Amino acid sequence: MEIIRVKDYETMSKKASEIVADRVKTLENPILGLATGSTPEGMYRYLIEKYQAGEVSFKSAKSFNLDEYVGLSADDKNSYNYYMFDKFFNHVDILKENVNLPNGTATDLKQACLDYDQKIKDAGGIDIQVLGIGVNGHIGFNEPGTPFTMRTHVVDLTESTRQANSIYFSSLDEVPTQAFTMGIGTIMESKEIILLAYGESKANAIAQMLKGEVTEDLPASILKNHPNVTVIADEKALSQIGRAHV
Ligand code: F6R
Repeated sequence: MEIIRVKDYETMSKKASEIVADRVKTLENPILGLATGSTPEGMYRYLIEKYQAGEVSFKSAKSFNLDEYVGLSADDKNSYNYYMFDKFFNHVDILKENVNLPNGTATDLKQACLDYDQKIKDAGGIDIQVLGIGVNGHIGFNEPGTPFTMRTHVVDLTESTRQANSIYFSSLDEVPTQAFTMGIGTIMESKEIILLAYGESKANAIAQMLKGEVTEDLPASILKNHPNVTVIADEKALSQIGRAHV
């Protein structure tokens, strides 16, 4: 696991955009695993800048997002589908048919999960997966206690996750109670992973991930068993880690 210590959010975002842009340029048909939330917003901004400057094209890229709320349609402003188009896809040349997120309005949830994993497999697997981290160490919507072997599945959102995500909704009642998420098994099959973290609220999860044991109680700890992971974190997110560890 490589750890890149950066000074702040902007530097983290820029560094992440450079790594993703490099893979998009070097791979013939890059398969991107993408995340939502506040963490990757800056990275998307820098990737758009690179596209606008003619430095990178997403024409041959395919994307698979980590998660989506159950029950929200693609055009619902709170769906992750909407977020991705609003913050990234609408501003670059990725082809709409190459964009994939779990289908929030699927009626057969189990089948939708199987289909999503199959699609990733058919595409040849994810080349580079971008991850954020929850304050409790979750990745995707895989909360503490989720078996490491799980593939794409539906989770009941914990009250704390619903509460944390309610800032994007007009009230807590509107936050869906379930979500699709790639499982840890799915995430671990990615050829390369970059995990981004900024701010003090993530310091404890990052310290536990880097210094603690690999345990299902801290989902991100499994990343230590992956051969190609880069953590890009700012000073605040690394504040509970001595420099000797980085
Ligand atoms: C988002 C996702 C989540 C977030 C995590 C951090 O697709 O899967 O695991 O990465 O909850 O969220 P932010 O970035 O909002 O702090």
